[in-house]
Amino acid sequence: MSEPVQTPQTQFKPRIFSGIQPSGGLTLGNYLGALKRFVEKQDEGIETIYCLVDLHAITVWQDPEKLRQQTREGAAAFIAAGIDPARSVLFNQSQVTAHAELAWIFNCVARMGWMGRMTQWKDKAGKNAEAASLGLFAYPALMAADILAYHATMVPVGEDQKQHLELTRDIAIKFNNDFKVDFFPVVEPLIEGAATRVMSLRDGTKKMSKSDPSDQSRINLTDTADQIASKIRKAKTDPEPLPDTVEGLKDRPDARNLVNIYAALAGHTVEQVIADFAGAQFGTFKPALADLAVAKLAPITTEMNRLMKDPAEIDRILGQGGERAEAIARPIVDQVYDIVGMIRSRR
Ligand code: AMP
Ligand code: TRP
Repeated sequence: MSEPVQTPQTQFKPRIFSGIQPSGGLTLGNYLGALKRFVEKQDEGIETIYCLVDLHAITVWQDPEKLRQQTREGAAAFIAAGIDPARSVLFNQSQVTAHAELAWIFNCVARMGWMGRMTQWKDKAGKNAEAASLGLFAYPALMAADILAYHATMVPVGEDQKQHLELTRDIAIKFNNDFKVDFFPVVEPLIEGAATRVMSLRDGTKKMSKSDPSDQSRINLTDTADQIASKIRKAKTDPEPLPDTVEGLKDRPDARNLVNIYAALAGHTVEQVIADFAGAQFGTFKPALADLAVAKLAPITTEMNRLMKDPAEIDRILGQGGERAEAIARPIVDQVYDIVGMIRSRR
C-alpha cells in the first residue's frame, strides 16, 4: 500500500477508540479480546471512547427489532463489564452522523484494490461477492472514519482486526499526503494479552464467533452457569495430558485455546497456567476452567440482566454518550470538509 510519510504527529493527545458490532450476543471472545481490555484502558485513566457500531452491523441483514435489542444488550454488557459511562464515552454509532459523513470522504480516499484485499471481506462475501452489499465492501472505510473522526491514537482490538487497522493507517497517510496536511494521526493497534484470538470450542483452528451456526462453539455473555460448564466440559480436546512447557501446546490448537482462555480469565501468563497444570488430564483442567469462567462471567451476566430491565435508561446513557461523542467529532469533520474544498456557508 502507500509509503509512510514522515509526519511530526506531535499534536495528538492519547485517546482510545474501539467498537463492537451489535450483530448478535457478545461472546467470550469479545469479552477477552475487547471488552475486558476496554475496561483496563479506562481504568488506566486514558480518554476512552467506545461505540456499538450499528452502521457496521447492517452491512449484513439485521432484523430491525433484534438490532435494537442487541444494541441495548451490547451497551449493558459494556457497563456490566466495568465501563463507567461517566468516565468513558459510550454510544451507538448511528447517533453521531460524523461517522457516516467521514466514511463517505474516506470512500473517495481508499482504493478498490485495498478493500479487495481485506480477508474479512473475502471471508464474509464468500464465493458470491456479487450478492454482498456495497456496504460490506466499504466496511473498513467506515471503521477508519469511526477512529479518525476522534483523532484517536490507539485502538484496542482482537487479532482479527489488525488488517483493518493497517488500512486505517493507510487512509490517514493518503489523506495527509493528498491534501498536504498533517491532520490525521497514524493510529496504533493495541493487540495484547493471552486471548487476542479466542478460538471455537468445537474447532481450535476457527475463531470463536457470534455468527457461528453452532451455539456449542462459543460462550455467550448471556449463558447461565450450567450452560458455561456444559460447553466447557464438551469442548473439543485431544487425549494427551497438559504439557509441562508452553512449546508443548504448539500443535495442539484445542488444548492451547483452553489454556489461553484460562490465562486470560485468571489474569495469569500462559507460563503460569502451564506451571500449575503440567501433566493434568482434561478431566481435571476442564472443571477448573469451568469454575473460573463461571466465577468471572456470572456477575457480568447478572448485572446485564438487571440493566436490561430498564431499556429507557440504557437509551438515555447512549444518547448522552452520543452527545459527548458529537462534541468531539463535529469540529474535526467540519475541518475535513474545509480541507477537501467543500463550501459550508450555512454555518
Ligand atoms: P465484533 O464482534 O466482530 O464486532 O468484534 C468486536 C471486538 O471483539 C473486536 O476487537 C474483535 O477483534 C474482538 N473479537 C471478536 N471475536 C474475538 C475472538 N474470538 N477472540 C478475540 N477477540 C475477538
Ligand atoms: N470491525 C470491528 C469488528 O468487527 C468493529 C469496529 C468498527 C471497530 N469500528 C471500529 C473496532 C473502530 C475498532 C475501532 O470487530
